[in-house]
Amino acid sequence: PENYTKALQESQDVFHRFPLQLVHGIPLMEPIAQQWGPIENFQARPDDLLISTYPKAGTTWMQEIVDLILVQGDVEKACRAPTHIRIPFLEICSPPPVPSGVQQLANVPSPRVIKTHLPFQLVPKSFWENRCKVIYVARNAKDNVVSYYFFDQMNKTQPEPGPWELYLQMFMDGKLAWGSWYDHVCRYWAERANHCILYVFYEDMKEDPAREIRRVMDFLEVELPPQVLEKIVQQTSFQIMKENPMTNYSSVPSTIFDQTVSPFMRKGQVGDWKNHFTVAQSEAFDAHYQRRMEGTGLHFRTQI
Ligand code: A3P
Repeated sequence: PENYTKALQESQDVFHRFPLQLVHGIPLMEPIAQQWGPIENFQARPDDLLISTYPKAGTTWMQEIVDLILVQGDVEKACRAPTHIRIPFLEICSPPPVPSGVQQLANVPSPRVIKTHLPFQLVPKSFWENRCKVIYVARNAKDNVVSYYFFDQMNKTQPEPGPWELYLQMFMDGKLAWGSWYDHVCRYWAERANHCILYVFYEDMKEDPAREIRRVMDFLEVELPPQVLEKIVQQTSFQIMKENPMTNYSSVPSTIFDQTVSPFMRKGQVGDWKNHFTVAQSEAFDAHYQRRMEGTGLHFRTQI
């Protein structure tokens, strides 16, 4: 962990707002597109666990829940390193000497937990061939895009978000990094029938975290006493994770994540979109949303 953090510190000046480049039709950050081969050919192991999300759907939250389950609620163990080191980000490619996600993962002993934002069709085939378990977290589109808008302001490695109105249109058009939210959430939803995918909603986690953590435990075939479950609920609350240096990304240099612009742990709420969408934007969004989501069978309780 120290080496990784040191490498990040030392190579701060080579980070900048990378442009997006299409990989099989999906816009990804240029360094990822340029090193696509090793990602595509990544060798998953049968006991790998993949946490997959569209960016800003609650990835970090689920990462912390999973890690705490696997260390049986031992908070000290879960605080051994920052999130991005405990659970490497599969497709991330930083300028050398910072190791890429694929390089990091080569040195992680099994069983590994891996984060990805890749849409289903870009996930390395070896995950499906090995029948790996996948936890997918989905968040309602309106809160998801608001969260992404603030993130793109503070994340100095993704393109400038520009004005909100245009950003919202880019989201609807599937032009932001990692592509279309609509395709992302719908494809994983449909593939539940064919693969070992646990589909979790951010809004359900907010409503009843213990219930959703229990679903994750069942999926991972881990049994824990009620008091340990309660401890995990506490430890993964927004407020605790906001203050925890191992979960709030404070170890990432401000030239990469500028938390004075917007904190990584920003609001953690359902319905914040109401503070950002105008009535006209909301109506146009809803009409487009209905067309895009019709017939998919996927419903977000708090969407409209
Ligand atoms: P907001 O920007 O709406 O606050 P990701 O980890 O996928 O990047 O998602 C980040 C979003 O999840 C942010 O949303 C962040 O605040 C929220 N989040 C992180 N931890 C959370 C928690 N424990 N409870 C609720 N929301 C959380």
